[in-house]
Amino acid sequence: MAEFKLRLRRYDPESGEAPYWDEHTVELEGHRSVLEGILQVKGSEDGSIGIRCSCRAAICGSCGVRINGEPALACNTHLDRAQQAAEATGGGGVIVVEPMGNMPVIKDLIVDMDAVHWKKIRRVTPWLINKQPVPEREYLVDRESMVDITQTMACIQCGACVSDCLSMEVDPGFIGPAALAKAYRFVGDPRDDRHGERLNALSQDPEGIFDCTHCFKCVQACPKEVNPMGQIMRLRRVATSDFGIVDHNNGERHEKAFTNLVRDYGLLHEAELLPRSYGGDSWFGKFHPAAGKELLSSLPAIMKAVLRGKVSPRKALLGHKLPSRDLKAVQSIYRQVEGKGAKKEAPPKRHELNLYVTGYDEDSEPSPNGDAGDSGADQKEAS
Ligand code: FES
Repeated sequence: MAEFKLRLRRYDPESGEAPYWDEHTVELEGHRSVLEGILQVKGSEDGSIGIRCSCRAAICGSCGVRINGEPALACNTHLDRAQQAAEATGGGGVIVVEPMGNMPVIKDLIVDMDAVHWKKIRRVTPWLINKQPVPEREYLVDRESMVDITQTMACIQCGACVSDCLSMEVDPGFIGPAALAKAYRFVGDPRDDRHGERLNALSQDPEGIFDCTHCFKCVQACPKEVNPMGQIMRLRRVATSDFGIVDHNNGERHEKAFTNLVRDYGLLHEAELLPRSYGGDSWFGKFHPAAGKELLSSLPAIMKAVLRGKVSPRKALLGHKLPSRDLKAVQSIYRQVEGKGAKKEAPPKRHELNLYVTGYDEDSEPSPNGDAGDSGADQKEAS
């Protein structure tokens, strides 16, 4: 048995009082969870502590909290590891537990998942709309399709990614990583009949797939390795490349402008990004009225960046200069990826696969040295 100090954030909005911190010491083995520590305090010292939990086995997703500032499942975080993390971050070994972010607090460590998380999940029509006619017995789908969506199916809806989403912090209306990962679960499912409609709605929504800023916070936060940001990027690829969707929010053009600028300059040319996003690659594109409007609204942010020395006006206006050898190397990557110079033929069908599922394929031939051999699906690379 060892002693662990827990620092809990307490808050009851109905009381009208400000939030405060509450410290308790628990005696438990180090491999016991932070949740067990909190429940011990609740059972023996203060029954008024609000914490939500159910399975205690990292399955139901109800005990999401922030531990030492990071989103986590309280039932899946060992006390000794949490203590070590608190020591490493200069917290003197005191385990700090707070409610998740981006959601209103109901009481202490319990947040209102209905007000944010579930509301957003409902926006993506989170059920399968099956293809017609429905087969008499069952739909037959290839295993790669199922491998592809298994990662999103592993989501336990704990809200950890929502808690840490920086885009949602800035724009609370952003549909968010959990809902978009859920959306990919159906877009990647060949039995679903509404891929185009789903993708179009998520692309045209100003708070949809193009509102993600690739901060990777959701990837780090997820306790189940669902990789929500990866699913958002897949939704974008399928929407733009396979369905040719051009959205009103300029998301598709902005991505294109970004990649074309890197192709042309070897690095991002900030001053060109805005005009190209609106007016395309042509020189006259600079005078697109929407680009001017956007530029004007961005001026305060630009001025701030210049004054703080984050951007030098010269570099921003003229772009970065790469040595020509390096620029050629970048451009040759583009030529290879885009297949320029090669004989024109239909692009190969792209498979969206992930490497989430591991294990052996029971049908595969045993290898000569007697082991089970390579699995089919799990060895394929994501493309
Ligand atoms: Fe179910 Fe923690 S109690 S995930």
